[in-house]
Amino acid sequence: MKKILVTGGLGYIGSHTVVELQNAGFEVVIIDNLSNSSLDVLGGITNITSQPPTFERLDLRNKSKVTEFFKLHKNIEGVIHFAASKAVGESVKNPLLYYENNINTLVYLLQECKAHKINNFIFSSSCTVYGEPDSLPITETAPVKKAMSPYGNTKQINEEILIDTCASSQLQSIALRYFNPIGAHETAEIGELPIGVPQNLVPFITQSAAGIREQLSVFGNDYNTPDGSCIRDYIHVVDLAKAHVVALQRLLEQKNKSSFEVFNIGTGQGNSVFEVIKAFENVTGKKLNYNVVERRSGDVTAVYADTTKANEELGWKAEKTIQQALASAWKWEQKIRNKA
Ligand code: NAD
Ligand code: UD1
Repeated sequence: MKKILVTGGLGYIGSHTVVELQNAGFEVVIIDNLSNSSLDVLGGITNITSQPPTFERLDLRNKSKVTEFFKLHKNIEGVIHFAASKAVGESVKNPLLYYENNINTLVYLLQECKAHKINNFIFSSSCTVYGEPDSLPITETAPVKKAMSPYGNTKQINEEILIDTCASSQLQSIALRYFNPIGAHETAEIGELPIGVPQNLVPFITQSAAGIREQLSVFGNDYNTPDGSCIRDYIHVVDLAKAHVVALQRLLEQKNKSSFEVFNIGTGQGNSVFEVIKAFENVTGKKLNYNVVERRSGDVTAVYADTTKANEELGWKAEKTIQQALASAWKWEQKIRNKA
């Protein structure tokens, strides 16, 4: 069994990826500081796979602890690095927190990878690196635009750190540029756990349907799109998780074509905010209370992926529909409300 380190493995995307890694026969060691997750997630993962992953509660900003961790955990063959702060608004208010948590942590990890000859590294990037695209769907060759937030900037800097490290060492890395992950595991054992008022569309929708939020605000209906609302590429988190497994296998089997590669991970299909609302209502039979408000600053009009590269090179394709994703998000919301 190959041993893989998953940082941020108790978070939203990390936990789903741990499940898929275990299903594919990998041994998983998780690092998480629980800053945006809970220990319950470990139980959720174990309920699905019947294999408790090894867990180390550790803050990756603590360099000496990170060094200790790698001395203790031998024979790690690959790293999937999810741990980061991800709230765009918060990053505008507190950029140094983002530069510390999203950049220092990557540097410390890469130093340990070098010291321990761990050469396979998967990184969580984002479609946010493309900014407002010049043409759609977006391919990986589209230019990286000036970041619209410190959070977005950290993803661009992270990719550059990886490019330079791959060029100067044995490191092989794949950056996956996620589009909009939504949904939860079909068992409702794990899902997204937003702290406070959700900033993202789907958790706000499910909390509105559950009666926790009075009204959903649609941020603008005057965009240059068919129904005036913004368009995004919503991908089921389980499909996204599986992309990490195939990307890791590509590195382990040395099938990568260069030492640093990027792949768009989306469905290739764009949906507007109104379409997501309608799809949620159709799938769940719940009526959503919403109104249209001003545009949210920093939102791009439309963004969706050209997934040809991931389809052809990784042999990966999103399989689940937006209806399945919304149904699973609703099932998860109901589960956590019943538990609360
Ligand atoms: P998440 O917040 O649910 O998961 C991140 C996990 O990392 C959390 O469990 C948190 O406790 C942990 N963590 C944060 N800082 C840490 C530190 N210093 N040391 C140890 N653990 C730490 O986020 P997510 O949605 O699962 O996102 C995972 C990754 O994917 C992030 O890098 C994020 O920027 C990126 N990403 C997310 C999205 C999205 O829509 N969710 C989109 C694009 C990219
Ligand atoms: C946001 C981040 C992006 C990050 C991604 C995943 C911004 C500007 N971008 O993307 O960097 O990678 O989350 O974490 O914050 N919407 C509403 N009402 C709501 C919430 C959202 O109408 O209450 C709309 C938004 O205007 C957008 C769409 O829904 O058009 C999706 O929004 P969201 O889920 O926040 O994701 P992004 O903005 O695409």
